[in-house]
Amino acid sequence: MHYFSCVATKLHCEGVSVEALARKHGTPLYIYSQSTLSHHFKKLDTAFAPVEHLICYSVKANANLAILRTLAGLGSGFDIVSGGELQRVIAAGGEPGKCVFAGVGKTEEEITFALQRGIYCFNVESEPELARLNRVAARLKKTAPVAVRANPDVAAGTHAKITTGTYENKFGIACEKVEGVYERASRLKHLRLRGLQMHIGSQITTVEPFEQAVARLAPLALRLKDRHGIEFFSAGGGLGIVYQPALESGAAKWWETAAAADILTSQRYAARLLPLVKPLGLRLLLEPGRFIVGNAGILVTRVEYVKRTGKKNFVIVDAAMNDLIRPAFYEAYHEIVPVVRRRSQSLATDVVGPICESSDCFCKDRILPRVEEGEYLALLSAGAYGSAMSSTYNGRPLAAEVLVNGNRAAVVRERQLVAALWAGEKIAPWLK
Ligand SMILES: Cc1ncc(COP(=O)(O)O)c(C=O)c1O
Repeated sequence: MHYFSCVATKLHCEGVSVEALARKHGTPLYIYSQSTLSHHFKKLDTAFAPVEHLICYSVKANANLAILRTLAGLGSGFDIVSGGELQRVIAAGGEPGKCVFAGVGKTEEEITFALQRGIYCFNVESEPELARLNRVAARLKKTAPVAVRANPDVAAGTHAKITTGTYENKFGIACEKVEGVYERASRLKHLRLRGLQMHIGSQITTVEPFEQAVARLAPLALRLKDRHGIEFFSAGGGLGIVYQPALESGAAKWWETAAAADILTSQRYAARLLPLVKPLGLRLLLEPGRFIVGNAGILVTRVEYVKRTGKKNFVIVDAAMNDLIRPAFYEAYHEIVPVVRRRSQSLATDVVGPICESSDCFCKDRILPRVEEGEYLALLSAGAYGSAMSSTYNGRPLAAEVLVNGNRAAVVRERQLVAALWAGEKIAPWLK
């Protein structure tokens, strides 16, 4: 579900023309729909109303302050993975008391900062981390709230680079070992055993892996509640979205499907998980990132050149893998549509960026409408792990970002200035 649609021949984000935004702010340009964001959050929140719960939006998916502020305003908590993300949440007006801190490599500085700010819980990935948390908390004369990330050894059926819940991965502690870890942790005076957490991967499009993992951990959660008084269970994030509606739902084209069928809907996810989590009598935490923001954003790019070689039709655009790395990194699919539809024939097209890497390619031999220099294309469902994973490779400044709400649009990230690319660099004195 999203609020991007085609009005006559022009792609709109809510009530605003995408072409007008591209002309005004330049390209590459990320455009986010606030209504889509809110819709996803509220849908999930409502679906879990039967249990006490907290949605902790996963900041890594898209950390723009305007996105965080929107979600904080809806009552969201946040799943963070660094001190930097905690600072962002605070800068956006989010509450540290609703933050859970994940990640295998938390530094002493990050732990100190998070303890001073009073976060809700540290999701712990190893026993050495528990020892470090206890030591830092003792130094600060505080108690660190902790939950162990239990690895349920469930294959999530997603891309290998975003699978996290099997014993092949660096994440979490094997579920058979978790009780022993809590026993030992209960002897550390500066820890409070607050919960149990899991996260099995990302872009999971069926409910079965979640169900399997929760079912595996539920008896453990009950025993930890009885023995150590834990108060929450976190089912993590990982809910997938539709990137290819034409294939996955039989819908004709993305812009024609107002409700681009979510395969994994909030209702379906809740209907299958609630019977497992309700009997636990624990507060439920969820950590979705992509599910909230993925379909709420697009990346708009301008066609710079059309290069027809006889064998190939290359459309060379001004966005590149530094702006959206998912296709190069995960072979991810993003639907690509012209921002203004013309009557033109379709042909097999490679849409490529200007970066000097063969992997700087958004699609290969995809049947797309013929486009010409100066036209705009939109890469859809680019709200999650798009701008958040962007870089300045090849001396390319970070793209501008715009948030739309109804008929209003505001720049929520200025296009980076080229001079900012080397702002922190210095010529060594002996080179002067
Ligand atoms: C611990 C944890 N929680 C939540 C998420 C969010 O995942 P997603 O964006 O797929 O919901 C991640 C992603 O890697 C994660 O590692």
